[in-house]
Amino acid sequence: MEKLLEIKDVYAGAYDKDILKGLNLTINKGEVHVIMGPNGAGKSTLANVILNNPQYIKNSGDIIFDGENINNLKTNEIAQKGIFMSFQSPEEIPGISTLNFLKYAKNKISGEPVKSFKFKFLLKKYIDELNMNPKLVERNLNVGFSGGEKKKNEILQMLVLEPKLAILDETDSGLDVDAIRTVSKGINMYKNDDNAVLIITHNNKILENLHVDYVHVLVDGKIVKTGDASLATQIEKEGYEKFKKVEE
Ligand SMILES: Nc1ncnc2c1ncn2[C@@H]1O[C@H](COP(=O)(O)OP(=O)(O)OP(=O)(O)O)[C@@H](O)[C@H]1O
Ligand SMILES: [Mg+2]
Repeated sequence: MEKLLEIKDVYAGAYDKDILKGLNLTINKGEVHVIMGPNGAGKSTLANVILNNPQYIKNSGDIIFDGENINNLKTNEIAQKGIFMSFQSPEEIPGISTLNFLKYAKNKISGEPVKSFKFKFLLKKYIDELNMNPKLVERNLNVGFSGGEKKKNEILQMLVLEPKLAILDETDSGLDVDAIRTVSKGINMYKNDDNAVLIITHNNKILENLHVDYVHVLVDGKIVKTGDASLATQIEKEGYEKFKKVEE
């Protein structure tokens, strides 16, 4: 197994708040990892800290991606190395069409010119597979998109950008049952033996159509339990009380 991402004993926070408190996680190429945990546990913070979002401060620990320490790289450099993160609440960006944004991002990430005809062809294929309205890509990025359309648009970005690691922060929340299935389909289309996915979720539904290798429970800034897909089912039935008690 070849290591793709290694998070070693990371402590991080925002302003004067400690959020991640000794977090360890290793993701190998080809794997699907899921992180679950109560609201406010630090899941989105973890995603942001991996991407070195300047709103967060890493106090100690190391993040190694594809054999390289990325602790001090800027967010755009980390994205260029091949880490993609979908936002829990995607922003509306007026002034750039979704199509042009995707083209621009693809160009920035790949460092190569994007051939319009080929790109549009590929985009059409993904839009069909994701049951999206083809007119959406002509509209300004996420502007006036429904909650579900925004989330599917994140999956479209992942497919177009072909990252080595995709971090999906609650991409399934607010989606109807059919859309959740479509999102899992998108993940399966993206997934291969060389890349990996880290799914942050509160729901089991998205996991039903995916092959999940590990489920981690994140409580109060640390991973307190790791298991297989059955751990997600257990959490659905029993909640997080038991894991919180482990902490005390
Ligand atoms: N930029 C910030 N400034 C101050 N506090 C923050 C910041 N980001 C996160 N926090 C706090 O850190 C804690 C963890 O937040 P985070 O968003 O990582 O939780 P989460 O596990 O993703 O929760 P949810 O399941 O609700 O999305 C919360 O108490 C939150 O208020
Ligand atoms: Mg969150």
